[in-house]
Amino acid sequence: MGITYEEFKAGLNKRERRRELLSRDGRPFFVLLSQQFSRTEIESLCDTATAIRRLDRHVGGRHFLRGLLHGYRIMNLFAQPSTRTAESFMAAADKLGATTRLVSDIRTSSFAKGESVEDSVRTLSSFFDAIVTRHGDDDFAMRASWALSNAGRPIPVISAGSGKSQHVTQSLLDIYTLRYSFAERGGVDGKNVVIIGDIARNRAARSLAYLLTRFEKPSIHFVSPAAFAPDDTLLRYLRKHEVGVDVHPALEPVLKTMGKDVDAIYVTRSQQEWDPGGMPDATERGSSREFVLETEYRSLVRPDCVIMHPLPRVNELPESWEDHPGFVVWRQVRNGMWIRAALFANVTGADAEIRHRASRFGLV
Ligand code: CP
Repeated sequence: MGITYEEFKAGLNKRERRRELLSRDGRPFFVLLSQQFSRTEIESLCDTATAIRRLDRHVGGRHFLRGLLHGYRIMNLFAQPSTRTAESFMAAADKLGATTRLVSDIRTSSFAKGESVEDSVRTLSSFFDAIVTRHGDDDFAMRASWALSNAGRPIPVISAGSGKSQHVTQSLLDIYTLRYSFAERGGVDGKNVVIIGDIARNRAARSLAYLLTRFEKPSIHFVSPAAFAPDDTLLRYLRKHEVGVDVHPALEPVLKTMGKDVDAIYVTRSQQEWDPGGMPDATERGSSREFVLETEYRSLVRPDCVIMHPLPRVNELPESWEDHPGFVVWRQVRNGMWIRAALFANVTGADAEIRHRASRFGLV
């Protein structure tokens, strides 16, 4: 018998134990939390993503990439809707030559007959080499990882969004995008980031905040409704890691007082699907004015302020922002594919070969 689920989960709160539980041979094996990545690992992932992106521009590079994971099979188990994450994971796998399968309606699987997470993922590990999963339950990917860590044939598990808690691969693509945007401005260190929305229920915003702790003294200004303000666990973690943190009830006063000092604004939608009555009718969807990046605020921020959103959006980031010089939302989407390809390469150990090849051809 291996460890219990409670022991596994408790171990994830301690840095060294977390590394033991989630890594194999110094590589991520279970990808569940932003906190599991060190600064060096983040930088290395970003460099691999850039190497893949540049190799992919050439026929020879594409051919090389597609040979790397030939015969590798990836199960994408998505129990919640997704456009970007599911498709970018599959496109990333394609780039490296892996085969993918998508189950997006888990009522078609034996979960519908009451099969446990443990039995389901052990079964899938008989046919696949890795599982990518999104689930409404905060613990699903964690539980799948624990079950496989106790199994005779463990395979990697990558969370593609865990309930309201974390969306680790979104935060990796967000940091990759920020790093690119700040390449000529000293990188992500010391940057002043505004994160708007329903922080308590927004896994992308939460994961980004956790990942920012890996950089030198950033500041985060959360702007959120009181009912969905960042939780104490997140705030304590940020402060412990010397992130300057403030929580504000509305966006306009923040931008009026310090808009020109803001380096990036990360806008997120109101997570109304978690409301007790479920997703409201289309006419009732969206954020209230305090949490909308109104068009008129353009004059309050610098032209080089980076404007981000994990998407999908409702009303909180008007299309009028798309011609702002710092608008990088569509770059984020595309970067999702590159960083997820880099993650597959990192998990499987193909990353060193990729970087070596890109370096040999002068691409990095
Ligand atoms: N950003 C994101 O997670 O989008 P999807 O829900 O479309 O995957």
